[in-house]
Amino acid sequence: MVEPILKWAGGKRQLLAEITARFPADFDRYHEPFVGGGAVFFDLEPDAGSINDLNSRLVTLYETIRDRDPEELIAENRSHEHDEDYYYDARDEFNELHRVDDKSPEQRLREASLFVYLNRTCFNGLYRENNSGEFNVPVGRYANPDWVQADRIRALHEVLRDTTIRNGDFAYVREAATAGDLVYFDPPYEPVSTTADFTDYHAEGFDRDDQRRLRDLAVELDEAGVSVVLSNSPPVAELYEDYEAFAVDLVEATRAINSDADGRGEVAEVLITNVPEAEQRRTTLSAFE
Ligand SMILES: C[S@@+](CC[C@H](N)C(=O)[O-])C[C@H]1O[C@@H](n2cnc3c(N)ncnc32)[C@H](O)[C@@H]1O
Repeated sequence: MVEPILKWAGGKRQLLAEITARFPADFDRYHEPFVGGGAVFFDLEPDAGSINDLNSRLVTLYETIRDRDPEELIAENRSHEHDEDYYYDARDEFNELHRVDDKSPEQRLREASLFVYLNRTCFNGLYRENNSGEFNVPVGRYANPDWVQADRIRALHEVLRDTTIRNGDFAYVREAATAGDLVYFDPPYEPVSTTADFTDYHAEGFDRDDQRRLRDLAVELDEAGVSVVLSNSPPVAELYEDYEAFAVDLVEATRAINSDADGRGEVAEVLITNVPEAEQRRTTLSAFE
């Protein structure tokens, strides 16, 4: 079990037990099309499968961790300073690198390292971009932030060894997943209130049409013999009402990061799955207790 390197909005550490309890006891490969900070993937440490995210900087980080000697990224991370002016210079450099189309291996290593540094030192661990795609979160106030993350980088290097890493829309998983595989979807949440902000994750939002597209894909995967587990906010539950293959459960969770002033605390989430209860880990494990 590996801890995530990044702080990430909608991070699933609080709900890990509830989510993985619904996974089938046995499956072939594991796919996570909205991987974000990867709390579930890294907890599970799957042998093979795929991860994906629309955020290209996040994907560069994971590819760097998988493909390079972890000591190179750790050394680069150690070069950063705990200083406000340094933070804003690092943010400028990160945004300049983002505009470079064909990055050299050294530029990719640098971008990955800046991402970890900015994520661990920015305000609230938020990831937010302006309309031009520039990361624009101000510096945070931390006494002793850890942006080196040496042990976790070494551990993730091993976990990612046989994982395909993709940077695109979640729909790729229609082809990537085959019968016997497991797919866990954790999409950007539909706001519960009209003031909640869709753009916290990425410059592109995720609207109701995307939620319907995701539901249609979940139905296709079910028909293809793929196990599907999905977390979401309660308003999305109605999209699954007419589909008998899917069970919808309401669970309570404490959100780690929320940009609303009063947004911390207990919130309800829904977990949706086509995995029959008799085949879920929670059932098969409790049989031995
Ligand atoms: C709720 S977060 C995932 C959080 C993750 N489970 C964790 O533990 O950190 C949703 C992620 O979906 C990504 N995303 C948004 N739209 C997407 C799309 N159409 N296809 C794939 N990923 C997308 C965002 O960049 C964000 O990282």
